[in-house]
Amino acid sequence: MRYIMVLALAGFISAPAVASMELSDNYECTDCHKLDVKAGAVRKKKEGPSYKEIAKEYKGKKGADKQLLDAIKKGSKDVWAKKLGKKTEMEAEEDIPAKDAEAIVKWILTL
Ligand code: HEC
Repeated sequence: MRYIMVLALAGFISAPAVASMELSDNYECTDCHKLDVKAGAVRKKKEGPSYKEIAKEYKGKKGADKQLLDAIKKGSKDVWAKKLGKKTEMEAEEDIPAKDAEAIVKWILTL
């Protein structure tokens, strides 16, 4: 019985994270965003901040969800340039439905 409860709990905790990573994979966000990167890792030319880096930057900030949704919808340029030590630009992601973008942003802010 206890074993089953542990399994159920593990599933409950990890499922949303897996679902959201897959969701972000569906829209090819993961071409440029990893879940996590080691400090000082060499990034690909177009690679953006990892989801964990984004979370660290915005978690707990007022209006963060709106700001991130805006960046996805309209694109974003050089917000991360200084931190990543290169020019950074993301084009507007127009193909992603608002509800999926919202789900991804919500998930990022829990990381
Ligand atoms: C071609 C590469 C590329 C793709 C594909 C891409 N991004 Fe990005 N993304 C970036 C870069 C580079 C930045 C940093 C932009 C900046 O510095 O302003 C970024 C920034 C972000 C940010 C942070 C914005 C901010 O204001 O700090 C979020 C959130 C984000 N991307 C989510 C997504 C999601 C969700 C998708 C898929 C729908 C996606 N990205 C697809 C390259 C990409």
